[in-house]
Amino acid sequence: MTDSESERLVSGRRREGDADVALRPQTLDAFIGQRRVRENLAVFVKAARERGEALDHVLLHGPPGLGKTTLAQIVSRELGVGFRATSGPMIARAGDLAALLTNLEPRDVLFIDEIHRLNPAIEEVLYPAMEDFQLDLIIGEGPAARSVRIDLAPFTLVGATTRAGLLTNPLRDRFGIPLRLEFYETEELVEIVARGATLLGLALTPDGALEIARRSRGTPRVAGRLLRRVRDFAAVAGRTPVSAFVADAALNRLDVDAAGLDAQDRAYLWRMAEHYGGGPVGVETLAAALAEERDTLEDVIEPFLIQRGFLKRTPRGRVMTRLAWTHLGLAAPASPVPDQPDLPLD
Ligand SMILES: Nc1ncnc2c1ncn2[C@@H]1O[C@H](COP(=O)(O)OP(=O)(O)OP(=O)(O)O)[C@@H](O)[C@H]1O
Ligand SMILES: [Mg+2]
Repeated sequence: MTDSESERLVSGRRREGDADVALRPQTLDAFIGQRRVRENLAVFVKAARERGEALDHVLLHGPPGLGKTTLAQIVSRELGVGFRATSGPMIARAGDLAALLTNLEPRDVLFIDEIHRLNPAIEEVLYPAMEDFQLDLIIGEGPAARSVRIDLAPFTLVGATTRAGLLTNPLRDRFGIPLRLEFYETEELVEIVARGATLLGLALTPDGALEIARRSRGTPRVAGRLLRRVRDFAAVAGRTPVSAFVADAALNRLDVDAAGLDAQDRAYLWRMAEHYGGGPVGVETLAAALAEERDTLEDVIEPFLIQRGFLKRTPRGRVMTRLAWTHLGLAAPASPVPDQPDLPLD
């Protein structure tokens, strides 16, 4: 994560001080939004419970801060089983994975975050574990090396990734339940903000909640973060209950605009407009020009701009839409500019 990323208020990525835990819903019923995902999970969880079997492996994918970790925890709670969490980069050796797997109780959930960052050698060990609940390990080295097979308790792997496209096919194919999380609708975020305000003991008017929701980049983590900052602002200014007027003033100070774009989103669009005539321009070129990592552009900035119809991906590179030109208060160039938003990234 770059410094500008960690400074960034509307990034979906986790930051220190987010205190995600306090706002985290604990049950599927308390989880707001993602209706399709919730309904599917409810059915599969119920069926697994009734059969007394481990739930099929679940892959959660979507941009940061939409609730992947939250859902993984909810799944284990709804199944009434144990929950172990790790992440792709943390599993350095096959032995690390073996230790995790052999310690699972029957039907437990093993959560692997950032599963696209698993080392390929570890993936090889994971395949038979997922498929047959067996572990094939090589013990020793050279001529003395021998392979041992260990039976595992049936378990559920819940993998999370911001980039399903980076998963290898054999790994992706082993998830029986792939679920894609979408950006949240404003009405859903209103509910999330209102619930958060209650949990934080903040008096917030309905239009105040709407103002924060509209500017949360479709992301509950951002909604929670903006809510806390607005609360600070209101406390210092002595302005409660927080109305739309107060929220607007606070968010303007925080440089979050009416569409929920922050300085970094706007820098991205301005750079495209001023230096590349609105594109097409390659993502590597943009990353270099903005001194950002390509991953940050692709994981954090672009999915939202694409979903809101500000940006389009084409085979020749990124292109700004007419909406983006208008948002910047600029006239679109005479050359063809796409009106249509792109299909969402995965
Ligand atoms: N549906 C929801 N309702 C209420 N709060 C939510 C919901 N989804 C997520 N949140 C809140 O948003 C925050 C981020 O959620 P979570 O950590 O699950 O996201 P994530 O998708 O795992 O992100 P990352 O990709 O960074 O790991 C948490 O504080 C969580 O409580
Ligand atoms: Mg997470």
